[in-house]
Amino acid sequence: MSAQLFDFKPGFNWNSVQPETLEQFNLWRKQGRLGFLDLPYNLTLHRDTAELAEMYRRKHGTLFVAGIGGSSLGLRAILSALNDQSGRKVIVADSPDSRVISRAVANASPRNSLISVVTKSGGTAETLSIFMELRRKLGKDAPVVAITDPVNGQLRELAEKKGWSTLPVPANVGGRFSVLSPVGLFPAAFAGIDTAGLLRGAAEIVEDFETNSGKSLAAVIAGAFLSRFKSHPVHVFMPYSDYLYDTALWFAQLWAESLGKAVDLNGNTVATGQTPLACRGPADQHSLVQLFMEGPADKTVTIVTEGNPENTEPQPGEFSDQPAMNYLEGRNPDILRMAEAEATSTALSERGLPVNRLHLPCINAGYLGQVFMALEIATVLTGLALGVDPLNQPGVERGKLLAYKAMGREGY
Ligand code: PA5
Repeated sequence: MSAQLFDFKPGFNWNSVQPETLEQFNLWRKQGRLGFLDLPYNLTLHRDTAELAEMYRRKHGTLFVAGIGGSSLGLRAILSALNDQSGRKVIVADSPDSRVISRAVANASPRNSLISVVTKSGGTAETLSIFMELRRKLGKDAPVVAITDPVNGQLRELAEKKGWSTLPVPANVGGRFSVLSPVGLFPAAFAGIDTAGLLRGAAEIVEDFETNSGKSLAAVIAGAFLSRFKSHPVHVFMPYSDYLYDTALWFAQLWAESLGKAVDLNGNTVATGQTPLACRGPADQHSLVQLFMEGPADKTVTIVTEGNPENTEPQPGEFSDQPAMNYLEGRNPDILRMAEAEATSTALSERGLPVNRLHLPCINAGYLGQVFMALEIATVLTGLALGVDPLNQPGVERGKLLAYKAMGREGY
């Protein structure tokens, strides 16, 4: 029996991904360029990650993670959605701000703490600066786990020299596609999250894609997103669940960095891209939705919901005589949250905006793993359909070089 996948429905006419795009995707996969697709099946890597996390869990209560971009956003998404805070603590530090770092370590005991420094390239300035500040503050009693390229980079060399524990990010897995590698899974396992469930969910999406190709869930998402990519320059991604807001921020990076490109695969200037906007329903109904309803009609919207709260009748109670409150009396706020997701998506569709609905039957590791993998595949398919390289990010280099120069780094 095939696995139950989360629900995705575009509320407008859309075109399927073209066979040439699927062929090119499969070719890139064969060439070993899409390493993220193999992560659910890399049992050795998962076992090593889980064992190392378990070893440290026995002795340490708090893990500080230094990382940025693809080395922190996926982890934040996992923790927000799945961490019930009952086990070990994981604190993600992705801002080189001494005040934020001081606050994070304020009550930490160095002997009870562990630092993980996460950088695929091994040289990202913000990550190394945060790590160095954590190390200064926690001292050498806090052990270090370096998560980086298996062979290359300065962090790999340093970790080996210092004898720190290490875990690899496979060479063919890029930063924003690395959430299901040790980047996301080591801290998740430390927190006691079901990492096997995340991988199982991701594998279900890969298997659906292999079986159903252009009709698979990931390809349907790609087709719908692609159909309004050029006509609607802004993509609003709006979960009606705070548990999934960090997933929206993770998607924003994936979509922006993968598809915002100056040139196509043949070197022609294209300056393509669609601005992703992570929103929080219902809070943003009292903020950005005014703009969506009456401002430029340049947005496509994905409304994300989870769970199926039972719709109960109002009950008699303290506020039954208050017309502004009696219809809410005795009813779970989740009923209102779901009703608002429905209402906003209808209102935005009536306004003429293309609205997709993405629904998870519940939030658990399996469905989150599915969402990660489906959106990663959809992003690569979209990039290939647009004719750009979704795996690189040359646009961030210039700012990096100027920052190194400003900091007086040797050679810049
Ligand atoms: O997706 C990407 O490749 C980037 O967003 C990186 O994750 C980010 O720049 C951090 O890079 P690194 O992991 O090398 O420190």
